[in-house]
Amino acid sequence: MTTRDAGAGAPPGEAAPAYGTAPEDRRTPYEIRLRPLEARDLRRVERLEQQLFGRGAWSYAMLAEELGGLGRWYVAAEPVRPYAAGPQEVVGYAGLWFDGEVVQVMTIGVDPELQQRGVGRTLLEALLARARVLRAEAVLLEVAVDNAPALRLYEGYGFVRLGVRRKYYWPEGTDAYTMRLELAPPEGVASPGAADRAARAVPVAGGPPAGRRPGTAGAPGPVGA
Ligand SMILES: CC(C)(COP(=O)(O)OP(=O)(O)OC[C@H]1O[C@@H](n2cnc3c(N)ncnc32)[C@H](O)[C@@H]1OP(=O)(O)O)[C@@H](O)C(=O)NCCC(=O)NCCS
Repeated sequence: MTTRDAGAGAPPGEAAPAYGTAPEDRRTPYEIRLRPLEARDLRRVERLEQQLFGRGAWSYAMLAEELGGLGRWYVAAEPVRPYAAGPQEVVGYAGLWFDGEVVQVMTIGVDPELQQRGVGRTLLEALLARARVLRAEAVLLEVAVDNAPALRLYEGYGFVRLGVRRKYYWPEGTDAYTMRLELAPPEGVASPGAADRAARAVPVAGGPPAGRRPGTAGAPGPVGA
């Protein structure tokens, strides 16, 4: 995450920027709205990927493949600007893969300048809401063992650590925790049976994800950094 000193040390008589990023402003909720992530957003998401994940960033081609992949569902966060028309530049994004039984969180990322202002929480809640609509049994994800902000976010929503996948992230070779959140079936509905699940199943090409960064095992796997 980057920090900016604007405002804190402004000389007398010079106004600090209205969109202040002084430390005390960092926690001010940032007003966003969610919409489907679209192909026109991918150049921007590619840049965010590079900022957020460095050498492990997904390329434009990987993002495009993901967006069109079977069982995928991607959402974008854009700023609410009352006087600006049309779609705004994406400030966060998240995606999932539903295989007919469980949801896998594929990615979640927020513009470093706007982190810790509630955007990540809103995106994760959108994924969880979608998982419930899909009647997924559980939500799974991988997260780097040293990614304290993400771990705290996920644990705050009840995800529990199942185990460690050694050298999961390519190219860094960082270990990942596998985490799982059980989803309770909707009220009055018994846990879906196999036949029901089969009816909802989305045919998914390839095997289970094996690392967020394509290149290790072919298809993109779940998220982490
Ligand atoms: C993880 C990430 C998506 C969180 O997004 P965000 O917009 O900063 O998160 P929010 O402001 O909504 O914060 C939600 C919760 O996350 C946790 N959190 C977020 N930033 C944190 C930080 N720097 N340190 C500790 N906890 C943090 C807190 O539990 C926070 O809840 P709180 O505000 O009640 O304490 C963001 O840090 C990010 O994009 N990181 C880089 C990409 C990445 O690692 N993605 C996840 C890969 S598994």
